[in-house]
Amino acid sequence: MVNYAARVATALCALVAGGAAQEQLRPGTPGNAVYDYVVIGGGTAGLAIASRLSAFASVAVVEAGGLYEQDNGNQSVVPYYGLVMPVLGVAEDYPPNSLIDWDLLSTPQPSAGGRRIHYAQGKTLGGSSAINTMAYHRGTVGSYQRWADLVGDQSYTFDSLLPYFKRTSTLTPPNLQKRNAPNATALYDSTAFDNSLKGPLQVSWANWVDPAQSWLARALQAIGQAVNPNGLSSGKVSGGAWVPTTIDPKDATRSTSKSSYLQSALKNARITVYLHTQASKIVFDKEKKATGVAVSILGQNCVLSARKEVILSAGVFHSPQLLLLSGIGPAATLRTHSIGVISNLAGVGQNLWDQIFFNVLRGITVPNTGTYLATPAQQALAVQQYLSKAAGPYSSAGGYLSFEKLPAKSRAALSPRTSNLLAQFPSDWPEIEYIASGFPGGFANKTTIGAISGTLLTPSSRGNVTISSASIADAPVVNLGWLSDPADGEVLVAAFKRVREAWSSSAIAGIVDGPEIAPGDAVSTDAQILDFIRSSAQPIWHASSTCAMGKAGQGGAVVDSKARVFGVKGLRVVDNSVIPFSLPGHPQSSVYMLAEKIADDILKGK
Ligand SMILES: Cc1cc2nc3c(=O)[nH]c(=O)nc-3n(C[C@H](O)[C@H](O)[C@H](O)COP(=O)(O)OP(=O)(O)OC[C@H]3O[C@@H](n4cnc5c(N)ncnc54)[C@H](O)[C@@H]3O)c2cc1C
Ligand SMILES: *[C@@H]1O[C@H](CO)[C@@H](O)[C@H](O)[C@H]1NC(C)=O
Ligand SMILES: *[C@@H]1O[C@H](CO)[C@@H](O)[C@H](O)[C@H]1NC(C)=O
Ligand SMILES: *[C@@H]1O[C@H](CO)[C@@H](O)[C@H](O)[C@H]1NC(C)=O
Ligand SMILES: *[C@@H]1O[C@H](CO)[C@@H](O)[C@H](O)[C@H]1NC(C)=O
Repeated sequence: MVNYAARVATALCALVAGGAAQEQLRPGTPGNAVYDYVVIGGGTAGLAIASRLSAFASVAVVEAGGLYEQDNGNQSVVPYYGLVMPVLGVAEDYPPNSLIDWDLLSTPQPSAGGRRIHYAQGKTLGGSSAINTMAYHRGTVGSYQRWADLVGDQSYTFDSLLPYFKRTSTLTPPNLQKRNAPNATALYDSTAFDNSLKGPLQVSWANWVDPAQSWLARALQAIGQAVNPNGLSSGKVSGGAWVPTTIDPKDATRSTSKSSYLQSALKNARITVYLHTQASKIVFDKEKKATGVAVSILGQNCVLSARKEVILSAGVFHSPQLLLLSGIGPAATLRTHSIGVISNLAGVGQNLWDQIFFNVLRGITVPNTGTYLATPAQQALAVQQYLSKAAGPYSSAGGYLSFEKLPAKSRAALSPRTSNLLAQFPSDWPEIEYIASGFPGGFANKTTIGAISGTLLTPSSRGNVTISSASIADAPVVNLGWLSDPADGEVLVAAFKRVREAWSSSAIAGIVDGPEIAPGDAVSTDAQILDFIRSSAQPIWHASSTCAMGKAGQGGAVVDSKARVFGVKGLRVVDNSVIPFSLPGHPQSSVYMLAEKIADDILKGK
């Protein structure tokens, strides 16, 4: 109790210290309480929907983590650190950080070198929006059409979703003077945004461009991926772009669901936030209506009751975990752990989509941001630039992304089965995303290492999530399923060859220094390339679809198109777990959009 009060007090101090204009967080206190809506998980979707509901109802947010500004310091606030924070380590011996991360390790992945992967997931108010790498763009027209068709609801087409995308965010055009990068011009379509709606999330371009990226972008353009004149938020995800990032241009700080949505909603005091509070179970009455959430507030067991609905927004791994612990999922799994069956839904925890990437590294003679920050003098200057002008290397997490459908000569090498699997994706769905980046040297005698990565956007492998006991104290069991379908290896080998093509393009010959560092020229046959991919593939942290939206009775569907869980009443799941497949590219824009859409459904009594 004392401990809790002390934590809340520090939380409040941190918020107050955060800026004069900030509204105070209204903390929940131990004990049973009743609200209209109880939202489990104060993450990306959770805070967005809670904030919208709080405009017309009383809302409690239950969040297992604390405040990232305190617990992760400027690592979660200063954009550049978002690219290099230790919690992004994927090896089994990564440095754990339970103040900000769930410290999840996957099961050993037999098709990915037997590795156990550390899969970072934000455990903090703001969720993964407080640790992600901030890239902002949307999926393709064809991908949302597929969503609409799959769930039997044409309100999921790109055109119908656009008003909800627009509600989420405010777009600030590049500040050309501060950005000072005529060779890295950001192109975009401002009609895809509507600032008159005052969307809370800040989307802007960094006031700094990484010199290495400006060169590697040219290599990708040289192999046929032209710059997309409209950016990547108008329903076409093809070609390259300097993507905008979720950064508040006012002071170049990370814009999270907390700093954006929650902060604006706090002006009306109908939202109560329970920090350091883990939900252990959703409670149902005899009619299978969700009536509340069992939580432990520092050792004290309480129930937060919901007059209207419970909204589950615990993320792609923890939402299926909580459904299972509450009696919703495959009956056999529930019985194994002596959990009473409330709704027998085979799809809970299944259908895990995950996009993975590999890197090809070479030495380069131009600095990247990390090289630039490697000397104490430049670092001091950069801190100065950041604090006084919201500019310079620390102000940026932005980068160059480039998308393509593999060209004909790459496709010719694919097996008929793999070609057929790719042909089932909508025609505008890119297969590969390439990202230009780099890091300071320290090996192979290079001062700067350039990296060009290839990410698979059409995974055919599926993973799954389950529980190992009936207790919330045990982490969900995460099997990523990486590369278990041979099609994925084939497509990634083709992508790998494209990356080598980019590296050997004459556009960057003048800055490439020496032979390939990783994997190196000794890796040349398809089998060797595939081995390299299996042993080095990494997550881009876009896992999704473990509580998939779909039509009633359709195999595997967990929620309907209004995000209502089948077989029960008063319970919706709203987060990246319900999007029925991984949209091509980066998902946060769609997670926020979904929260807006479902909040609107609720408001309209749907
Ligand atoms: C490292 C990283 C980099 C990424 N980079 C990008 C990017 O550049 N661009 C992009 O578009 N997307 C990116 N993503 C993906 C994107 O951030 C996520 O898909 C999105 O944030 C997921 O939102 P969510 O609401 O589903 O879950 P989250 O935001 O993770 O929220 C889940 C919340 O539930 C809480 N919770 C879980 N269990 C419980 C419980 N039992 N009780 C109480 N609270 C609980 C968690 O602590 C968390 O706050 C990245 C993700 C990561 C992790
Ligand atoms: C772009 O301009 C920056 C800043 O002058 C420079 O460091 C970088 O090398 C340039 N990149 C290219 C491709 O010319
Ligand atoms: C981040 O915090 C550390 C430690 O307080 C400080 O040394 C560093 O300058 C800060 N970085 C920036 C960019 O403000
Ligand atoms: C690095 O440079 C040193 C000294 O010039 C040399 O002995 C060593 O072989 C070099 N290492 C690599 C990996 O090139
Ligand atoms: C998850 O997938 C693996 C590999 O296909 C399978 O062996 C395992 O039984 C699945 N687990 C669950 C809970 O579905």
